Amino acid sequence: MTTVPGPPPLDLAFRGAMRRLASGVAIVATSDGEGRPRGIAMTAFMSLSMEPPSLLLAVNRSASLCEPLVARGRFSVNIMAWEDAAACHAFVFAPADERFSAIGWERDEGGLPIIPSAVANILCHIDQAEPFGSHMIIRGVVEKVVLGESRAPLAYVDGRYGRISFDG
Ligand SMILES: Cc1cc2nc3c(=O)[nH]c(=O)nc-3n(C[C@H](O)[C@H](O)[C@H](O)COP(=O)(O)O)c2cc1C
Repeated sequence: MTTVPGPPPLDLAFRGAMRRLASGVAIVATSDGEGRPRGIAMTAFMSLSMEPPSLLLAVNRSASLCEPLVARGRFSVNIMAWEDAAACHAFVFAPADERFSAIGWERDEGGLPIIPSAVANILCHIDQAEPFGSHMIIRGVVEKVVLGESRAPLAYVDGRYGRISFDG
């Protein structure tokens, strides 16, 4: 007797669908209670509103960034350039203490880590942080924006880094 495979379970199907979504990649950064920079690579960020300028993040509650981010209440979203894909990947797997040696960074007046080679830096304070399932949903109000050099932004789709090209 042959068994006909059924549809994949919902979580696998959902994961497969989201792999097909092309996203920009940012290093979201803050500093912890001892002033150490903390950051992870993220695709789960989006513009929320222009009045006031604001954005949303979804941070895994088990990620090293989550606790210091909520405690500090301020963060930077550094939208990364394609050339910096390797450095960006260090913010996925390298030990938290070693990540910032992979890329040039500096602090703003308030001590927040920012990455000058990013295509844009968006500095925010937290307006609301609410847990949902495995993640913390962060609503951030934009304080300051720095537009970097006009370079190809880093994209991520189907588990791979790349850059977007347009026909015509
Ligand atoms: C392309 C890419 C995008 C990611 N996006 C997110 C994200 O939006 N939110 C999140 O919590 N983790 C995201 N991660 C995972 C984090 O970068 C990180 O690996 C994870 O939080 C574990 O970090 P930790 O070792 O600092 O705890 C992403 C990973 C990759 C490769």
